[in-house]
Amino acid sequence: MDVDLRPVRKLRESAAARAAVGPILEAVCASPADLASLRVVCDWIQYKQNFREPVVGRPVGDTDTEIAFDLRRCGDLDPEHLAARVKQALSGPGDQPGVALEPWVTGRDSCIWRFNQLYWQALSGWEQATGREYEQSLPGGESDARNAEAARELILELFRIWDELAARRALPEELYILELGVGNGSQARTWLDEFLQLDRRHGREYYHRLRYLMGDYSPHVLDRARQAVAHHSERVSALVVEATRPSVTLGFLAGKAFLVYISNVYDNLPTDELASIHGRTYQVETQAYLAEDDADRIARQLSCRRDELVTLIDRLLRIGPELLSEASPGNCADPGQAVAFWQATWEALRLRERYVPLEGLDSYQITPTLTGEILRPLIEGDGDVRMHVSNGALGSFTGTLPLLHPYGRVQCHDLFLTSSQQYRTGFYGPGKYDGSVVNWVNGPLLQLVASRRGFGVEYTPFRQRPGSNITTLTAQARD
Ligand SMILES: C[S@@+](CC[C@H](N)C(=O)[O-])C[C@H]1O[C@@H](n2cnc3c(N)ncnc32)[C@H](O)[C@@H]1O
Repeated sequence: MDVDLRPVRKLRESAAARAAVGPILEAVCASPADLASLRVVCDWIQYKQNFREPVVGRPVGDTDTEIAFDLRRCGDLDPEHLAARVKQALSGPGDQPGVALEPWVTGRDSCIWRFNQLYWQALSGWEQATGREYEQSLPGGESDARNAEAARELILELFRIWDELAARRALPEELYILELGVGNGSQARTWLDEFLQLDRRHGREYYHRLRYLMGDYSPHVLDRARQAVAHHSERVSALVVEATRPSVTLGFLAGKAFLVYISNVYDNLPTDELASIHGRTYQVETQAYLAEDDADRIARQLSCRRDELVTLIDRLLRIGPELLSEASPGNCADPGQAVAFWQATWEALRLRERYVPLEGLDSYQITPTLTGEILRPLIEGDGDVRMHVSNGALGSFTGTLPLLHPYGRVQCHDLFLTSSQQYRTGFYGPGKYDGSVVNWVNGPLLQLVASRRGFGVEYTPFRQRPGSNITTLTAQARD
C-alpha cells in the first residue's frame, strides 16, 4: 500500500493535520479493501468551498484504487464516521450514490465550466443575492489589478520603450494595449488614470495614440467595465473574446500589442489533470453529481421530482436564472428564486474522479496545436505525481504571444505554481470562489511552451502585496 501525504507544510504547521493521519490509516487498514492494490492520498483542501467529500475513492485503471482524504475535514470526523466513509468510498464504481449531472468526461469538459461561465454572464444576480462583489472572494479580498504602483511601473517601462522606438522613427502611430478578462474594469480604470497623469508629466502625448482593448467573454462584464472607464471612452474598445482562443477575434492585432495584461483569469480557465502512477500515465476523468440528500433538498426547493433536476439544471445553464424563471415559473416563481436554485446547486456540486490510462502523451491534445509530448519532462520519470495541464491557460497564452509587438510583453498576475515539485507537496485546485472555479496554473509548463516559441517567461512574487499567493508572469521575446 502506498501512502502519499501531500500537505507537507500543513503537517509541520497543524497539529490537527498530524492528528488526522493515525485514524485515517487505522480506518483504511481495518477496511476489507485489498491493501496491496490501494493508494492512500492525503491532501489539505484549503478551499472551504470545493468539489470533494472529505473521503473519496477513485478507481485507477481496471484493477487498483486510490482513496483520498482531506486532512482538514477528516480531523473533525469521529472514528465511526471515518470508518463508514472509508467503506462507502471503497464500495466500487457501480455503487456510487447521488444524481449524476453528466457522463464521465475530462476535466476541461466538465459542466463546472458551464457554471463558471454562467457566473460571469449573470454576475449581478449572484452578487445581489450574496450582497458581496466578486472581488471579495479573490485572494486578499480585492483584485491586485487595481494596484496603482504596479500600473505606474509598467507604464514607465512602456514610455521608455516608446521613447527609444520614437527616436528611431520606429514607433507605430497607434499604441495597442490589450486586457483579457476585465472583470469590473478596476484594472482598466486604474491603468488608464495613471497613464493619463504620467503622460501629462512625460509630455509625449502618448495618451492620444493609445488604443486600449478590453476583451472578455461576458457581455455583462464588458458593460460594467465600460462604465468604469467611461471617462476614457475615446481610447477604449470593448470586445467579446474567448480568452482560450484569442486569435479568433484579435487576429488583426498580430505583432502590434505592446502589452497584454491579464489578472486572475488563467486560474479560471478549463483544465484537465494528468497523473503518473507507478510509471503509467493516466487522465483524470470527472463526473459532476449531487449527493442524495442535497438533490432531495434542492428538488423540494423547486417543487419538482428528483429525476427532473438534471433537466432543470441544464436549462439553468443554457438560459440563465432570469429566463429560467420565465420558462419554468412552477419551479422558480421569480429570478430571485432561480438564483437561489443556482446557488444551492453550485454549493452542493461535487466531482467524482477516476484514472483512465492514457494511450500516449503524443496522442493527447493539450490544445488543437499542442500535444501532450511537451509534458514528458514534467510528468515522467520522477515518481507518482498528479498535475494540471492548464489547457485553457495554454490556449490563451500561445494564442496571445503572436499578438505581441517585438518589444511587447505579456504580464499576468495569477496563482502560478513555479516548480512541478509543488504538485507533490500541496493541493492546487479545483476549488470554488463564490460561483466560479479556481485552479492554480502549471507555471513550468507555460515556461516550457513559451521557450519553444522563442519567448522567455519569468515568475516573480507580486511585489506590491508581500506574502500574497499571487505571482507575476512576464513573457517577452528573447533577444
Ligand atoms: C476573476 S475575474 C478577474 C477580473 C479582473 N482581471 C481582476 O483581476 O479583478 C475573471 C474574468 O475573466 C473572464 N473570463 C473567464 N473565463 C473567460 C474566457 N474563457 N474567455 C474570456 N473571458 C473569461 C470573466 O468574465 C471575468 O471577467
